[in-house]
Amino acid sequence: MTVADNKTVVVTGATSGIGLALISQLRDAGYVPILTGRNADKVTALAASHKVPGYCLDVADAQAIASVTAQIEADHGPIWGLVNNAGIWLEGEFTDYSAKEIKSVMDTNTLGTIMMTHAVLPAMQSRGSGTIINLVSTGALYTRKMISIYAASKWAIRGFTGCLEAECAPKGVRVMGFYPGKVNSAMYETAGIERNLDVAMTPEQAAAMIVTMLSDETMVWGQVSGRSIEDYG
Ligand SMILES: NC(=O)c1ccc[n+]([C@@H]2O[C@H](COP(=O)([O-])OP(=O)(O)OC[C@H]3O[C@@H](n4cnc5c(N)ncnc54)[C@H](OP(=O)(O)O)[C@@H]3O)[C@@H](O)[C@H]2O)c1
Repeated sequence: MTVADNKTVVVTGATSGIGLALISQLRDAGYVPILTGRNADKVTALAASHKVPGYCLDVADAQAIASVTAQIEADHGPIWGLVNNAGIWLEGEFTDYSAKEIKSVMDTNTLGTIMMTHAVLPAMQSRGSGTIINLVSTGALYTRKMISIYAASKWAIRGFTGCLEAECAPKGVRVMGFYPGKVNSAMYETAGIERNLDVAMTPEQAAAMIVTMLSDETMVWGQVSGRSIEDYG
């Protein structure tokens, strides 16, 4: 038996970049990774080629979140892990953004993460076991021009993650944030932004860090947050 022990781990936005790299690494480590994504054709093709279960799931759709997570549990048993990875980039002057663009980023990056967590956390808490990792960003550690909405979406998740970390730790559920800088994925290109990615992590390097955070179940209370379990009282 390995530490992964066939635990079911749901990865959102797993049709590209960090999420897709994570699917392979989790499978190879002995987890049962569930590949989810908003594009049904990509999900079907990638789930088949990676030999993992796949489900179409747009995290901006709260109703779909409820039904798909219930279906995953019915098909694969308890969801032990959730990696809230789905995310989109938006760059430019705030006044140039359309209302639709703003809503799309907040619905995906922020509400998607919150509603996915809302769907799986009660069962994790009642089992006294589980791990949730939220893809945050160094964009939630500083402010700069041209990224107001992306930063807002991730600063919200930084706060959400820290609060839940403290709330869930005494109940045996780890909630952690992962804060990469630049990653050499399709994220900027998909948003129509040219970005020099010479100095960037690869998606595989980012995924390997997430696997470590998932697998070392002593991590977060002592090391990542700088707190210890006694601080949560
Ligand atoms: N790249 C970076 O420099 C960087 C830095 C810090 C943090 N991050 C964060 O890391 C995470 C992963 O990004 P990445 O770099 O791997 O980018 P990516 O290659 O563009 O992957 C993003 C994934 O999210 C999916 N997605 C977008 N909207 C979705 C929705 N509403 N529902 C479900 N899936 C959705 C995309 O689906 P499609 O395949 O259909 O487009 C894609 O699979 C994001 O949260 C991002 O903010 C990235």
